[in-house]
Amino acid sequence: MPRVYLSPPHLSGRELEYLTDAVDSNWVAPLGPQVDAFEQELAALVDVPNALALSSGTAALHLALVVLGIGSGDEVACSSFTFSASANPVVYAGASPVFVDADEATWTMDPGLLERALAERPAIRAVVAVDLYGQCCDYDRIRELCAERDVTLIQDAAESLGATYRGAAAGGQGDLAAFSFNGNKVITTSGGGMLVSRDRGWIEHARKLSTQARDVAPHYEHTEIGFNYRLSNLLAAVGRAQLAVLPDRVAARRRINARYRKLLADVAGISFMPEAPYGEGNCWLTCIVVDPDDAGTDRERIRLALEAEDIESRPLWKPMHLQPVFAAAPAYGGEVSAGLLERGLCLPSGSSLSDEDQLRVVETLLATRA
Ligand SMILES: Cc1ncc(COP(=O)(O)O)c(C=O)c1O
Repeated sequence: MPRVYLSPPHLSGRELEYLTDAVDSNWVAPLGPQVDAFEQELAALVDVPNALALSSGTAALHLALVVLGIGSGDEVACSSFTFSASANPVVYAGASPVFVDADEATWTMDPGLLERALAERPAIRAVVAVDLYGQCCDYDRIRELCAERDVTLIQDAAESLGATYRGAAAGGQGDLAAFSFNGNKVITTSGGGMLVSRDRGWIEHARKLSTQARDVAPHYEHTEIGFNYRLSNLLAAVGRAQLAVLPDRVAARRRINARYRKLLADVAGISFMPEAPYGEGNCWLTCIVVDPDDAGTDRERIRLALEAEDIESRPLWKPMHLQPVFAAAPAYGGEVSAGLLERGLCLPSGSSLSDEDQLRVVETLLATRA
């Protein structure tokens, strides 16, 4: 039986058509009509007028910080419960991260802790709020806090394409937002990202910085340090074929999440990531929490049993405030995400997961109970 992966790429079948168009037109470069169209289509989908296609979500977060002029001496408040790519760009920019723990009710940034961090640390100039596992943060409260302190909000929407917040598409809640099209995401370009904003000036500046910051001149003229962060026209072609099926992919992940909830509903000691009342997540990954006292099993026993069946699962993110590389960074709270790391597991959630394989995941999990 083939290995069951956590969240593998799921092709639409139209990728070759778009790729052939790119090859036939000889636009095999980090610019071209597929890139332009991919930017326009994503901008329309998330209802944010300006978009910049980039080589990764990490690059998008980095450029967001650079166009805000964030650097040495500045602090950036960042969700602690996330993948390291949310925080690394703060260090690339020469600034320092300040970690903010998750709210138990949503697993996303706790607005109360953010309020404390902003009150106590005048050096904070921006907030990186992470839409965890495809669920938006509590943006009404976070936006209000940012506005009070005149701090810029960067939405890390790497995991939340296709989710909603109060009926609006994820990505329009921050002053800037970053998406990822890494191979494990809801849609993929194999690797890629997008930076979006209502502020045209920021996106145009980021566009210039993404191609080594060339000034307008017949020769190569530079007045600032640039980067090589643009997305290939070939990868944008793949992205367009993927974007066309986004609603199906989100619906499939939400269906898989609902089925896990149904199949495990009566199992003591197993609970799911809570769905916040203010939006609809894309269920990028289905996450469970195992209470060993009630469940008669534990997270690691389940993970190893699944692995023995050639089924990939993964502990929840190890929070940034517990990462050796960020040991010196200040943190607000920390208990919530630390507890979730100990007991939480991401189950196979790819939109191509078959009913049979999902049943095998559940049966293997249940068989670990004492
Ligand atoms: C929350 C979060 N932020 C940022 C990233 C970075 O995206 P990329 O892998 O495209 O650089 C990812 C995913 O990889 C992510 O999950």
